Amino acid sequence: MPMVTSQLGAVDRAIALLPRVQLADLPTPLTRLSRLSHQFGRHLYCKRDDLTGFAFGGNKARKLEFLVANARQACVDTLVAIGGMQSNFCRMAAAAAARAGLDCFLVLGGSRPRTPTGNIVLDQILGAHLNYCESEDWQDWEAAAEQLTARLRRRGRNVFSMPIGGSTPIGAIGYAVGMAEILRDARRLGVAIDHIVHASSSGGTQAGLLVGKALTGWPGEIHGISVAGNKVELANRVYRVAAGAAQLVGAEISPHDVHVDDAFVGAGYGKPTEAGLVAIETFARQEGIFLDRVYTGKAGAALLSYLDVERFGPDEVVLFLHTGGAVELFAQYPRGGRERSRHRSDDD
Ligand SMILES: Cc1ncc(COP(=O)(O)O)c(C=O)c1O
Repeated sequence: MPMVTSQLGAVDRAIALLPRVQLADLPTPLTRLSRLSHQFGRHLYCKRDDLTGFAFGGNKARKLEFLVANARQACVDTLVAIGGMQSNFCRMAAAAAARAGLDCFLVLGGSRPRTPTGNIVLDQILGAHLNYCESEDWQDWEAAAEQLTARLRRRGRNVFSMPIGGSTPIGAIGYAVGMAEILRDARRLGVAIDHIVHASSSGGTQAGLLVGKALTGWPGEIHGISVAGNKVELANRVYRVAAGAAQLVGAEISPHDVHVDDAFVGAGYGKPTEAGLVAIETFARQEGIFLDRVYTGKAGAALLSYLDVERFGPDEVVLFLHTGGAVELFAQYPRGGRERSRHRSDDD
């Protein structure tokens, strides 16, 4: 595939007038996965957005750069964010609020843990106000956040409330910028990327990548690996957010560009899969890279499966977009709620 060089400036021009605060340390590294490439006889690379730097890193730093700038423009004093019990977005929203001098209220799905672990420890250190919603249903979390926002407004607060994952058109712009960065990295390394594989959940990351693809004219394929919903629902969500983001920057998105694979979700959001645990161990033991059980492990499982069935040609270049989330490895869940990581004994 020819390298896309001429239209990279299109993203810079398109976002020039959008307000943005700096949170992430960019560009993140884009590195070759040498041992996995050798093992599968394919050209594999990894964009290390787990290393965005801010507040233990991850994809949400890119979205929050635009979301928080918007909040500041609206002169708010309070951010509200929603997520699962071990939400990476909530952790990073709390950190972004702290840096912007704003109060942060989180709605976390699940019951208050007896012993805080993983992201919840970090939420507490960051001074966020934690509210628990005892449900696994995202709509219940959203309803709880709406009620909380209304209560805060009645008390005179000026609130900026963000949906699950910060996946609004404004937030998604962060990944249009991310797409241009990936193409610049590829140009620097002298490779032309054909496929991007990444974890997709609330859809903003994939939506932003698609807008970046539309603006730059990159002809490759983006494979969003669902970690939660079925593929039709997620593809619709990605398209809605992408169409909104595209409107902000004068791009056009076709629903045909949205590719979602839901074969790796397993029993549901936040429920680990055997293939995901194997992917976590494979990335760690082959490349020294940590994936997580909720998001990137499932995307890693998809990548390994695609390689097993030779879905990519021998000359094609495949990029795994690592969206972060490894803090989750330090989480504990109620007994029976989660499979354990497998242990290897000294004799294995
Ligand atoms: C580590 C990680 N990877 C991927 C995703 C999915 O990104 P999006 O919600 O933009 O689809 C998330 C979202 O919560 C995440 O925390």
